Amino acid sequence: MDATTPADALALWIASAGSEGPGGYEGVADPRPELSASDLALWEELIREQCGLHFPDTRKRSLGRGLWQRMSLQGLTRYQDYYNRVAPLPAHDPERRALAEALANGETSFFRHKPSFKVLSSRVLPALAEERRRSGGPKSITLWSAGCSSGEETYSMAMAALTCPELHDFSVTVLGTDLNRRALYKARQGHYPARALAGVPDAYRRRFFVRSSSSSEEGVYSVNDELRSSVRFEVLWLNAPASGLLPWQDVIFCQNVVIYFRDDTRGDVVERLGHSLAPDGCLFLGPGEMVGVDVPGLRAEWADGCVIHRRSRPVAPEQP
Ligand SMILES: C[S@@+](CC[C@H](N)C(=O)[O-])C[C@H]1O[C@@H](n2cnc3c(N)ncnc32)[C@H](O)[C@@H]1O
Repeated sequence: MDATTPADALALWIASAGSEGPGGYEGVADPRPELSASDLALWEELIREQCGLHFPDTRKRSLGRGLWQRMSLQGLTRYQDYYNRVAPLPAHDPERRALAEALANGETSFFRHKPSFKVLSSRVLPALAEERRRSGGPKSITLWSAGCSSGEETYSMAMAALTCPELHDFSVTVLGTDLNRRALYKARQGHYPARALAGVPDAYRRRFFVRSSSSSEEGVYSVNDELRSSVRFEVLWLNAPASGLLPWQDVIFCQNVVIYFRDDTRGDVVERLGHSLAPDGCLFLGPGEMVGVDVPGLRAEWADGCVIHRRSRPVAPEQP
């Protein structure tokens, strides 16, 4: 293939080797220009406003890769020209949204942070069920995977809740949200290659997945109706204050998301997530994502290798 456009050049460069080396692929020049310090400063500000993501100098290469992916589609080769095109657009413009999608890292897996899922299954869910029974509250439980990528975390939360003996007579609803529409489409489909199920315990695999017919040797597994009917997926931008808080969540997982935000955005997002929790509800962040930071209204508790942020109950007014 001859590289006649920036998109062709990138395709040729990618096709020339399987993985990205530090300075391009052997024998084929990396077509992407270097991001200068002034380019970086311009984009950093624009992208932070758009989706909260932070690109310090150490993540310059990921930023360049995402920008190039979008600008090469428009035949542009200078970051400044793409900036001039994108900056005046409103935040909801399709190109601005597509850029955020290209820049957001969507790496995920089932039961990714095992200690969190262990604490969820063995402590948090049984305690919530017991409290609900004691107080005579509704036999329903709501969980939210905020920044769910292609759905693995959402389905993992649903499997944990559906197999919790104390919740056997409760209805379980799990919501997965993300800014990336392509990832959400994949999540809704619920088809995963066999290797993606490596972290799924065998008993769960047997109960919640069916092997689909597929031409690939490895095979594809699809979530079954029981699992599918307990989850739903929606677009939600966590950095936008007006993007609609979901009230009264019993459990929120927001793992490996705020780590990519600047400190001030991270604090705001976590505080808003806290407002979405029901009293005694728990927020699970990723390891090390907010350690040592006080979040108003949330109490940090250490439990078996993870920190849970629990929403405090409102203090009852003193009796006269
Ligand atoms: C690294 S993945 C983590 C997925 C999953 N939580 C896990 O731990 O495996 C981060 C996800 O957060 C999403 N994300 C990043 N910024 C976001 C924002 N401002 N609003 C909503 N989702 C966002 C990305 O699109 C991506 O799918």
